[in-house]
Amino acid sequence: MKERENFGSRFAVIMAFAGSAIGLGNIWRFPYMVGENGGAAFIIIYLLSSFFLSLPIFLSESVIGRRSHSNTFGAMEMLAPGTKWKWLGLLTVVSPLVILSFYSVVGGWSLVYLFKACSTGFTDSSMEEVSKVFGNVISSVWPPLIFHTLFLLICAVIIFFGVKSGIEKFSKITMPLLFVLIVLIMIYSVNLPGAGAGVTYLVKPDFSKITASVVAAAVGQSFFSLSLGVGTILTYSSYVRKDENILVSGIGTASLDLLFAILAGFAIMPAVFAAGIKPEAGPGLIFQTLPYIFSKMGEHLPVLSASVAVLFFITILVAALTSAISMFEVGVAYLVEERKFSRPAATAVVFSLTWVLGIFCSLSFGPLKNFHIFGNTIFSFCDKLTSNFLMTFGGLLFTIFVGWKMPRRDVRDEITSGGRSSLGVHTFNFVYFLIKYLAPAAIVLIFISNLIL
Ligand code: TRP
Repeated sequence: MKERENFGSRFAVIMAFAGSAIGLGNIWRFPYMVGENGGAAFIIIYLLSSFFLSLPIFLSESVIGRRSHSNTFGAMEMLAPGTKWKWLGLLTVVSPLVILSFYSVVGGWSLVYLFKACSTGFTDSSMEEVSKVFGNVISSVWPPLIFHTLFLLICAVIIFFGVKSGIEKFSKITMPLLFVLIVLIMIYSVNLPGAGAGVTYLVKPDFSKITASVVAAAVGQSFFSLSLGVGTILTYSSYVRKDENILVSGIGTASLDLLFAILAGFAIMPAVFAAGIKPEAGPGLIFQTLPYIFSKMGEHLPVLSASVAVLFFITILVAALTSAISMFEVGVAYLVEERKFSRPAATAVVFSLTWVLGIFCSLSFGPLKNFHIFGNTIFSFCDKLTSNFLMTFGGLLFTIFVGWKMPRRDVRDEITSGGRSSLGVHTFNFVYFLIKYLAPAAIVLIFISNLIL
């Protein structure tokens, strides 16, 4: 049998994980979630949740993936043979495909805007016009479909090349670039006239805004941002070598993800305020406010504005791609290892399934906008089904599996990399406590509050 591929170095591991974590969740979702949920107070809960809830789930997936060196389904069959846990393995093959199908539609929008930035640029002088353009783009039939297809095709090409020459290489080159780009955009943004109010909004907490639904939103956002609960982290961890410290790579990933979200917040919110736009604009925030800002800037500094616009949409595109491939890989790993597909065939199958579901997601802004599932359009149904339900449910089951089903000494063995890392007893006990008690209890609470809300 062909030997299973592994990531080549610690740097490669962290870049691949960070590539999965840092994506539209940070650039597109985080700013509008902050906007809708009360600014800095939301960020504080988000921060706490990232380290005390999300990190334990991340580690649980890492423990399972690295222990089994297998895809999500194979991992369950190996660690709990012949039990119902295999359903968790199967569920987590399906959920990333659902996420990928709507994610790819937004990835497609960013391609549309990148082409616009490179060709005509942004010249609409009023916010109404910009919003109208966005509305026209997403509700039309062909451009979003063509670009959704193109986006998925790029993912398929990267995945086709495999773990080392595809995922690892792409992440190692693009992730550092991404940080450079976002810092450049941030510098530009905080220097816009009137940007101060946006900075204040991000740093000054208003604790009166914190309600149960804000807490649930912050926790949900931190799960989404770290790609938890649907087997992406499990699958990537299965490519991590035995001597790699998964605690360090987990903390490294969570920190980079958080840093990037904050940088993205500072790149976007000051510009939003500078343009006099309401921060609660929702999912269209970056696609509506930024073109407006670029066109305003273009009146005085056309070259600078055009270049920042191009940089910005490249940033979004690259961030989206490195995340999308991590969802893509889950299904491919399953098909190759469990169903004995060749890698190209598995890539083609995952491409086709997400492509078709993505078409429906895309059309749900136009011709299918009146088609509702439980009161949601297809796009928002897929989004809510995964973010509010499948991810939390998956995350809960992964922590229960590691905390209650796996022998404690196996968990310790993984977290200390077979005793190679010098982790104090107290540190391990604390991490184990988070995995076994705190994270599952908190997820159940969030779940209940989501149901009630
Ligand atoms: N975390 C990514 C982002 O912030 C998105 C993502 C990748 C994801 N894999 C995932 C989200 C798995 C949920 C589940 O954009």
